[in-house]
Amino acid sequence: MHPYQNPDCPVEERVSDLLSRMTTAEKVAQTLQFTIGKDTTPNNIGADHPFDPRVGSILSFYGGVTERNAYQKLAIEGTRLGIPIIWGADVIHGWQTIFPAAIAQASSFDPELTRQISRISAAEAWYGGVDWTFSPMVEVCHDPRWERVVEGYGEDPAVAGKFAAAAVQGYQQPTPEHPETIAACLKHYVGYSASEAGHDYAYTDISQRALHEWYLPPFEAGVRAGAQTVMSSFNDLNGTPAVVHHGMMTGILRNSWNFRGFVVSDWESVKQLEAQGFSSNPEHQAVSSITAGNDMDMVDGIYRHLEAAVESGRLEMRYLNLAVERILRVKFELGLFEHPYTPERDPAAVWLRREYLDFARRSAADTMVLLKNEDDLLPLLPERYRRIALIGPAADNSDALLGSWLALAAAGRKPVRTETYRDVIADYFPEAEIRCAPGCAYRSSPGDEATIAEAAALAARSDVVILAVGEPGDLTGENKSRADLRLPGAQEQLVAAVAASGRPVVMLTGSGRPIIYSGTAERVQSILHVWQGGIMAARAAFDLLTGAATPSARLPMTFPRAVGQVPIYYNRHRRARPESGQYSDLAETPYYEFGHGLSYTTFTYSELRLERRDGRIIIEFTLANTGKRSGSEVVIWFLSDPEAALTQPAKRLISFQKISLAPGTSQTVRLALKPEQDLSYTDETGQRVFEPGSFIISTGNRSIEFQA
Ligand code: GLC
Repeated sequence: MHPYQNPDCPVEERVSDLLSRMTTAEKVAQTLQFTIGKDTTPNNIGADHPFDPRVGSILSFYGGVTERNAYQKLAIEGTRLGIPIIWGADVIHGWQTIFPAAIAQASSFDPELTRQISRISAAEAWYGGVDWTFSPMVEVCHDPRWERVVEGYGEDPAVAGKFAAAAVQGYQQPTPEHPETIAACLKHYVGYSASEAGHDYAYTDISQRALHEWYLPPFEAGVRAGAQTVMSSFNDLNGTPAVVHHGMMTGILRNSWNFRGFVVSDWESVKQLEAQGFSSNPEHQAVSSITAGNDMDMVDGIYRHLEAAVESGRLEMRYLNLAVERILRVKFELGLFEHPYTPERDPAAVWLRREYLDFARRSAADTMVLLKNEDDLLPLLPERYRRIALIGPAADNSDALLGSWLALAAAGRKPVRTETYRDVIADYFPEAEIRCAPGCAYRSSPGDEATIAEAAALAARSDVVILAVGEPGDLTGENKSRADLRLPGAQEQLVAAVAASGRPVVMLTGSGRPIIYSGTAERVQSILHVWQGGIMAARAAFDLLTGAATPSARLPMTFPRAVGQVPIYYNRHRRARPESGQYSDLAETPYYEFGHGLSYTTFTYSELRLERRDGRIIIEFTLANTGKRSGSEVVIWFLSDPEAALTQPAKRLISFQKISLAPGTSQTVRLALKPEQDLSYTDETGQRVFEPGSFIISTGNRSIEFQA
């Protein structure tokens, strides 16, 4: 038994032993990743590219565990060194049990929820033959036109960092009930979310300051949490495409953060260097990418040119060794050499378990944001409503609830049938007469006058209207940017017609991004923003509508009044003339602020106080639930630093906590600050700078100024 085959040997010893035995061809094979079977990728392994069992990784394989193990067996028993393949997939918010999309998870302001979602997703995906997920996406985003905001955790770097770490822990840290572990992948590194004008795959012009203040911190948090892989991004970052950006992949990721896993390129991004105007020479593309720190090449096969590059001396072997060493390290750490095969289990035993579905329902309820609730229309007490109208294109559509990143759907396999609002409503209003009408399609515009009129007439005959609208699932996700963020198609027309009935209207809005509510929200009494709530979203929404659950979510991203305000985000920098400079034709404030969200109970913040103790600054206040229902309050702490050598945002989030209180009870909430750490800022070189001076801490509707 060679050291690399001995599980009792330390990982580093196994890595170096195995590396020393590999030929150049075997090393290059480890840096390649392909898909197998039907796919549009010309580099697919199939007729023109026979399966090479020495390949490093296969992704997006949904052919089932038996077939996956058969390929793995060829790698283990059919090659000289028996190096296992690592199988990757986009397990973005669930595998079979589909959970709320990431932006919805961030609305919970509860990273523990994401940790548990990732843990269950890992357990399900592992039994599907997956060793590695291309998740979490941790990019801060200021531009809702960029459709991938749905995959991220909103606009704040501290929030994104907490959720990134939680997702990594969920995927990678086994628990007694879920020993299955899959490698996490922080993506897309870095700055892709700043794509010009909200396009996809676009150029990004990001200052060093912005990189260190906004875009890098969530990745650092994920690396500190132990993420085993990172995915470099599609965008050209300030003239150097991310996949060949040595400063980011080696300078920051390895030299500053000591990341020891491997970096995979995004789908054909090495080949795309030609389109970006970097190089049309495949060998030059491959050499530039691997020497910059990108270790594995996703599906375009350009890294096949590395063998000739090494043979000719155009690539020093040390770069190839570095990449292969990192890939082998992750494979050893994942235990793939000891457990290369996926056990074949009864799907009912490992997928869609009752406790998973129950958790999906609870987590969806924790992510839906109550934006408006005039006259406390909600919760709807069933005994009060005899005639209910359920209207809208989302009333009987599950796709919009499931969202845009469904790994299995990518393989043409829909997850198990997901209940729609129409499927579940009668369970909540058993005595009521319920009538449904689509009102309009998701996208057709102008809407069909007759169907809108029919819906409006139904509303007029009802005691209350539940209006289900929003973005269809296929309008969000990759390559689905929008220049117009309003409700698509004729939906605004429908809202106006239904609201004109004069009956109370509750709007359920599904979306993968902030949408423009101006001109629509004013017409209805209550709005529950459900995002893309996953497989149990319909029941979760009605749990909230009827009070079986209490809303506690907050917006992790600003909702603009108009797309002309974009980019708009809460932690913006100050203006030279704060009272001037705003638009002449539109209010400066957003439609809904970052952090906005209502509850069915009320909370008060009182007795805000500050003291210094053991070199720390302790700030406390009393939080009380002054309403009649239990509820959870998201306490957000903001810091303002009014004078700094490098000007600071008018305010930025430095901490948040979610606190549950029974009615009539209260609790002391505390924030302990270490000045050098918590009152410092990151400058454009990435260094932390602490400048003594005056600071303002604010939370809820109170603030406190102090010297530090
Ligand atoms: C896609 C996405 C990336 C995904 C990868 C594999 O193009 O950009 O997020 O993980 O390809 O499907």
